[in-house]
Amino acid sequence: MADYLYTLETRLSPDQQKAVTLVLDAARAAGMNLYLTGGAVRDIITGFPIRDLDFTVQGNALKLQKDLERAGAVVGDADDETRTLLLTLPGGVRAEIAMARSERYDKPGKPPQIAPSTIIEDLRRRDFTVNAMALSLNEGSRGLLLDPFNGAADIELKVIRVLHNYAFLDDPSRLIRATRFATRFHWPLEERTQARYESGKENGYIEYIRSSSIGYEIEQLAYEEDPHGVLKAYEKEGWLKVLNPRWSTAKVDTAGLGALMKTRQQMNELGYTPEVAPLVLYFLTERLGEKDISDLRRAIPRKDLVEAWKDLDSNARSLAKRLTGKEAATPSRTWQLLSAARPEMILFLAITARQQAVAQKIKNFFTKWRQVQQKIPLPEMTELHITPQMPAYPKIANDVFLLLLDGKLRSRTETLKFLKPLAPPPPPPPPPPSGKRGRGAKAAAAAAAAASGKLGAKGKGKVAAAPAAPVAPAEVKQQVKQKDKPALAAKPVVPAKPVTAAKPAKPAAVKTSRPAKASAVKKPGKRAKTAKSAGKTKAKAKAKAKPKHKKKGK
Ligand code: CTP
Repeated sequence: MADYLYTLETRLSPDQQKAVTLVLDAARAAGMNLYLTGGAVRDIITGFPIRDLDFTVQGNALKLQKDLERAGAVVGDADDETRTLLLTLPGGVRAEIAMARSERYDKPGKPPQIAPSTIIEDLRRRDFTVNAMALSLNEGSRGLLLDPFNGAADIELKVIRVLHNYAFLDDPSRLIRATRFATRFHWPLEERTQARYESGKENGYIEYIRSSSIGYEIEQLAYEEDPHGVLKAYEKEGWLKVLNPRWSTAKVDTAGLGALMKTRQQMNELGYTPEVAPLVLYFLTERLGEKDISDLRRAIPRKDLVEAWKDLDSNARSLAKRLTGKEAATPSRTWQLLSAARPEMILFLAITARQQAVAQKIKNFFTKWRQVQQKIPLPEMTELHITPQMPAYPKIANDVFLLLLDGKLRSRTETLKFLKPLAPPPPPPPPPPSGKRGRGAKAAAAAAAAASGKLGAKGKGKVAAAPAAPVAPAEVKQQVKQKDKPALAAKPVVPAKPVTAAKPAKPAAVKTSRPAKASAVKKPGKRAKTAKSAGKTKAKAKAKAKPKHKKKGK
């Protein structure tokens, strides 16, 4: 039990963990038991990427909708029949919350009889053993794995096994799903499952597939890591024409899809996580006719995905227009424009842009302009005490970067000239040596203070007056004074870590789009490296004085 609790906490991304908390709060408030189920549990155990979160509640999931929307969830679909919500939770986390239900199939092709059930009964209605596990999220049993069909053992064996002999007949979409999972994981179907699959194929079970399942399976393609590979497998097995009679691998823009996956990877390495599902659908259907595309769109249950797919072309056109207009007249303005744009739009435009100027600007954004960050004189900034601990640091760093981008600071000397007036007053001197007490210590402290010019009204005045000399060119000053900066100005463009002279500066703007990294600016532990401040020494002395057990408790 403990193991799964640990696995749950370590395998989910911070956004997914927040999503779990959010859904748990809503379920608790409604008095419902909540479980993580299906693919999410499978992927937690296997170590494969956790693509989405499938939750099951014992109760009507639709009752959670309002609470979840208030917490920032976007509802893509709400199915009254199965009482299932398809959601996008904050941070772009895809989730499904379903009511625990039993299903009874009376006739092939007919929807099952649905009834609310316990979680164990719910696991019985599922497709494959590896998908029929649940992880409790409830107080008292959090982390407990419910695995009535021994899915964990099949994960060990790396096989796909149906729960019972009628699995494919009850729900023919499982034939398509079996192909999809086998292709994605490179796991074979277990022997008897394979036999049932072949028999289902020969006997035309697929004719009985429900139209809602078709839409669901089209949608799932958009989230595959290798959608082209899955599409090829569907074509070979005869499933692609079930999704759309005119769909074939020949209708795919293979080059576009390849470029999408490659560029996405590069963007991931730079810290961007574009939502590629609409783009995948775009390239998978690039050569299909308008009518077929609109049929596919109509079938997909998640409406926010469909809207994003539909809007791709027009959004890309408008971004391209802005990139060729005044708004992007200089490198710094282009940088700001692209930094504020949605990563998926940049990605889409990077692949589809016809205008050379647009393509070049995007290329510069990802390559050449990032190199400019290395010109930010981080060691000298540290010496000037312009460090991440300063509230104005992100703005200063950003201003320097933008000026460097536009060639307005052409040398290190010019950059330092610009930076010096922005430096804070030097830190207070260290306290007197601990051995001295009383009068002697006071005298020593006073002498040190006088030397630094920090203490006393006179000294203070001098320090404040020092940086007043105007050194920056007019436009530079203007830029620094700007209060209403675009979003990017608030983000650090240089690493939060204080950098010593020996270390080369990292290309840090890569991280500007990632709020998690931005928070690292305030890492307290790093501060001591830059300044042996009196505060730090005092804190150490205090810590030493504390009894040991108290320290542990912290
Ligand atoms: N499910 C099922 N039969 C189906 C569709 C779904 O039994 N025809 C169940 C499975 O337990 C599945 C879960 O619902 O694991 C969630 O469905 P889905 O998100 O489509 O599949 P995942 O297993 O989560 O796969 P993926 O990694 O593709 O999201």
